[in-house]
Formats: sequence, structure tokens, C-alpha cells
Amino acid sequence: MIKLVSKYRRQIFTSCVLVLWFSILSRINDCFQSTHEDVGNELHDDTLVNLYNFKFVLNNAAICKQNASNHTHSSLVIMIHSARDHFSERYAIRRTWGSLKTYMNWNLHLIFLLGIDSKSHPGNHVENRIMEESNEHKDIIMGNFEDTYHNLTYKHLMGYKWVSTFCSNAEIILKTDDDMFADTFQIVEIVLEEFRNANKSFVCVDMHGNKPIREVDNKWYVSEETFPDESYPSFCSGVAYLMRAADAAKIYSVSNKTKFFWIDDVFVTGILREKYDVLLHNRDEVSLEIWPNIYGYFWGETETIIDWCSKDLGINQLSYAFIPIPRENFIRDSFCIWNKIRLMRYAMHTVVDFKMK
Ligand SMILES: *[C@@H]1O[C@H](CO)[C@@H](O)[C@H](O)[C@H]1NC(C)=O
Ligand SMILES: *[C@@H]1O[C@H](CO)[C@@H](O)[C@H](O)[C@H]1NC(C)=O
Ligand SMILES: *[C@@H]1O[C@H](CO)[C@@H](O)[C@H](O)[C@H]1NC(C)=O
Ligand SMILES: *[C@@H]1O[C@H](CO)[C@@H](O)[C@H](O)[C@H]1NC(C)=O
Ligand SMILES: *[C@@H]1O[C@H](CO)[C@@H](O)[C@H](O)[C@H]1NC(C)=O
Repeated sequence: MIKLVSKYRRQIFTSCVLVLWFSILSRINDCFQSTHEDVGNELHDDTLVNLYNFKFVLNNAAICKQNASNHTHSSLVIMIHSARDHFSERYAIRRTWGSLKTYMNWNLHLIFLLGIDSKSHPGNHVENRIMEESNEHKDIIMGNFEDTYHNLTYKHLMGYKWVSTFCSNAEIILKTDDDMFADTFQIVEIVLEEFRNANKSFVCVDMHGNKPIREVDNKWYVSEETFPDESYPSFCSGVAYLMRAADAAKIYSVSNKTKFFWIDDVFVTGILREKYDVLLHNRDEVSLEIWPNIYGYFWGETETIIDWCSKDLGINQLSYAFIPIPRENFIRDSFCIWNKIRLMRYAMHTVVDFKMK
């Protein structure tokens, strides 16, 4: 079984990324027009790659200065690519794995990255709900670009720009997507292990060897004009990666001198990262890994997350730091995994400094 998992790991990741891309694409389809207030005018630079007059139309600039933060702690920013109408996912993340605010001398700050829908009209339901959500939770950052699949590069670099500008004390960034469960306890432990003494950044699953798809009718088609090389540079699986926040500022600063490419993981963690000579550190053997079961059709496994939650595992930690959750069960499954993890952690007395929001 383990061997089988290893053998198919790359494939699982690739398919996972494709599934994520597909799901982001397929969900961003609301139609309205909105009026947004620019609260980002303290920024002097108004370009984002080749997007001129870039603005934060929604900004919660105080996220990293929250009173709950312990100023003697280091800061980890959890940057989540989210789609406008994924209210349930954001709800579940805030109340489960995103509710861990401090752990082992680290402050954890959660941000959700969104774009606009220029076709939405004032008073639109989705728009209003996002505004209410932002007022209540103060964790949404929205840029003035269309929230579409081919604009994910903007979303990604907006996150880098935001962290460099409004969270300059952050040391580490975790980038993930809003259909993931992330074991925040393990993430802090991985950060301590990977970043404490070594000069590392971009700890992730290395997607090297991936090639642009040249079949014109394929959804993932990339023309030779858009990307002439035969294969992509090493890049991080965007499902989840960890990096030094200092590199976000560096990479953001070269981003507008580089030809735009719409596959954000390739552009940001591959092309731009290489321009800055920042190394990527592959970690797919240990725990920066996804739960394979929902893609169990590779080997016919049928166990679901809810089955797993109801078992007495007799272990003290989840084998995976990241678990993609099927959308239809996102709330249920996130709560079940989170409760299980907390029980395991309490049992092991490993939770030193545990605060729930
Ligand atoms: C911090 O606390 C003070 C009062 O205790 C309050 O006025 C302020 O709004 C709080 N700041 C944040 C970012 O929560
Ligand atoms: C901040 O963390 C330090 C070190 O862990 C601890 O001694 C201190 O009590 C904490 N302060 C607050 C306000 O929680
Ligand atoms: C990306 O966003 C910009 C700015 O809103 C918009 O002009 C452009 O059409 C968007 N591109 C796609 C592919 O949606
Ligand atoms: C870490 O790497 C950078 C270049 O990537 C280099 O400038 C720096 O001196 C290195 N620091 C240590 C402690 O090795
Ligand atoms: C790129 O951004 C920098 C500031 O970060 C700015 O000074 C420069 O003019 C920009 N270059 C282009 C080509 O937009």
C-alpha cells in the first residue's frame, strides 16, 4: 500500500493540482458590477505584473497587528487563494484549522485572497455577503482584478505584495487553497524543522519535469508563443508550500519586469523564483503531503475522511499535513479532522500555548 502510494504520488499531485485548477475555474462565474472603495492608497506602486492601477479594493491592513498576537513570537502568514462565493469553505477554515492563533511561539495570521466581479451590480448578494464577512472577520484581501482562473497570477502576487507591505514582520508564508485542510500544528513543526537553522525557502512538492500542454483543444493548452521552453522550471505545487516572507518582497519586486504567464504556480514559484536565485526544496517524502484517499480510484481504495475520523487510530499525529477536501463535504470533514487532531494533541500534551478564537 505504502509503495503504491509512493508510486502514484506524483500523479496524485498532478491530478490534484488539475482538479484544483478546474474547480477554481468552474466556480468563478457570478455576474455583477460593484463599487469598491480604495483603501490601499497608502501604496505608491500601482502596478501588479502588467496590471496597471492595481488597488486593494478591500484591505484589512491590521491583520498582523492584532491584539491577540504575542509580540515576542514569530509570525506565519497563511495566505489562502479563495473564490468569491466559497463562503462555506472560509467559514469552516476559520473555525477549524485556521482558528489556531498561536502555537509554539508562533503567531498565525490567516488571509483570504479574492478578486472582483466587475459584472456584479450594487446590492448584489455575493458582493454584500463578502463585505459583511470582511467586516466581521477582517481577514479578506481583495484586488481590483477579475476573480478568474486566468488571473490567478495576480491573486498570487497580490498576496506577496500584501505580506511585504502590511505584514513586514512576518517570517514565513504558507500558501494554500480554500479546498484544503491544513494541520496547523504540524505546519508550525515543519517550519521549525525546515527553517530554523538552514537557509531555505520554498519548501514544497517540486513539480519539475512538467511540460506545457500543446494540444490546442486541451483546457490546459499553452502556446509556444506564451511559453516557448519544452518544460517548466522547477515549481512548487500550489496546493501548499512554505516560503520565507523576505523572498516574497524580492519576487514581487521583479514580477513587473517579467513577461506575464497565467499559470500562477509556474510563474511565481518557478520563473520568478529562479530569476531571484532562490532555491526550491523538495519535501514530498515526509509530511508535506496530501491525503490520497479521495483520489483513491487510483488503487480502488474506498475509505472516506469521515470513516477515518470515526476510527480509534492509536497514533498521535496525522500522517499528512495537507488534505484536499471534497467541496460537498467541506464543513463536515474539516470539523471531523480538526476535532480528531485536537484530541490527539491534547492526549499527547503537545499543545503548549493553545488559543481558540
Ligand atoms: C486592540 O485593542 C484595543 C483596545 O483594547 C482596541 O481599541 C483595538 O481596536 C484593538 N485592535 C485590534 C486590531 O483588534
Ligand atoms: C508571549 O510569549 C512569551 C513566550 O512564550 C510568554 O512568556 C508571554 O507570557 C506571552 N505573552 C502573552 C501576552 O501571551
Ligand atoms: C484579469 O483582470 C483584469 C483586470 O480586472 C481584466 O481586465 C482581465 O480581463 C482579466 N483576465 C481574465 C482572463 O479574466
Ligand atoms: C542564504 O542564501 C542567500 C542567497 O540565497 C545568501 O545571500 C545568504 O548569505 C545565505 N545565508 C546563509 C546564512 O547561508
Ligand atoms: C516595477 O515596479 C517598481 C516598484 O516596485 C517601479 O519602480 C517600476 O517602475 C515598475 N516597472 C514597470 C515596468 O512597471
